[in-house]
Amino acid sequence: MASDTSASNPSPVPSDVKERLKASYDIIAPKYSAWTLQHPAQRLEYLDKILALLPLSDPPSRPLRILELGCGPGLPVTRKLLSYPTVRVTANDISTVQIELARANLLGAATEGNSGDAEREEEERLTLVEGDMAKLAFPDGSFDAVVAFYSLIHLPRAEQTEMIGKIARWLKPGGYLLANFAEGEAEAVVMEKWLDEKGWAFWSGWGKEETLRIIGEAGLQVVVGEVTGDVVDASFLWVIAKQKNNQ
Ligand SMILES: C[S@@+](CC[C@H](N)C(=O)[O-])C[C@H]1O[C@@H](n2cnc3c(N)ncnc32)[C@H](O)[C@@H]1O
Repeated sequence: MASDTSASNPSPVPSDVKERLKASYDIIAPKYSAWTLQHPAQRLEYLDKILALLPLSDPPSRPLRILELGCGPGLPVTRKLLSYPTVRVTANDISTVQIELARANLLGAATEGNSGDAEREEEERLTLVEGDMAKLAFPDGSFDAVVAFYSLIHLPRAEQTEMIGKIARWLKPGGYLLANFAEGEAEAVVMEKWLDEKGWAFWSGWGKEETLRIIGEAGLQVVVGEVTGDVVDASFLWVIAKQKNNQ
């Protein structure tokens, strides 16, 4: 992340932050894919940790419903989720181009009309939802897991708090959240040219202690809450947390 802009700007969160992020990701999506696919290891490592906690192969197998927030191009995470036959994924992103890439990457063969049974079946197990994650609505207890890789950090901080509350309600009792957050505290970090001349980006975060407090207050029990270094010049707080309300 770049430097905190809040010191020089009394209201550092642009009112059009969502529109600007969407426009930016619509432009940088192909570049983001080329870059991020060189570094899948850490996401897959944390994904394996949460998958190990889910009843993926417990007989009798039941569908596992997973929500992914800010799915980007659907690689490597969504594809890995769909490799488990009992998993149903609802994958959301604000960027039209990211959703198009995810559709092509995950359902390419199926949408070309010459799909086999496997692709058709995969199409039925994936729902792509374009739009601001803050506007999503689901009944309580809809999902066995919610995952969000490098995406909640794009929300202004107050919205991160609201989002965590919603996720806690959307999870089934005993369900899990996996997400990463900014390690440090920052109301607004803006970069004008992230990955591209037109790659405007915004991030924010409450910092480790406050993020973990908010997650606990929402009714989630933190199972993993650790700061690790990243391929970018930043460290992130990685969290796996369990919906406590499991009678
Ligand atoms: C850094 S990328 C991460 C993509 C993917 N999770 C990955 O690990 O490669 C952040 C993604 O979050 C999406 N995003 C940003 N703000 C969003 C919002 N308010 N609602 C939904 N998606 C959002 C962006 O379009 C982008 O695809």
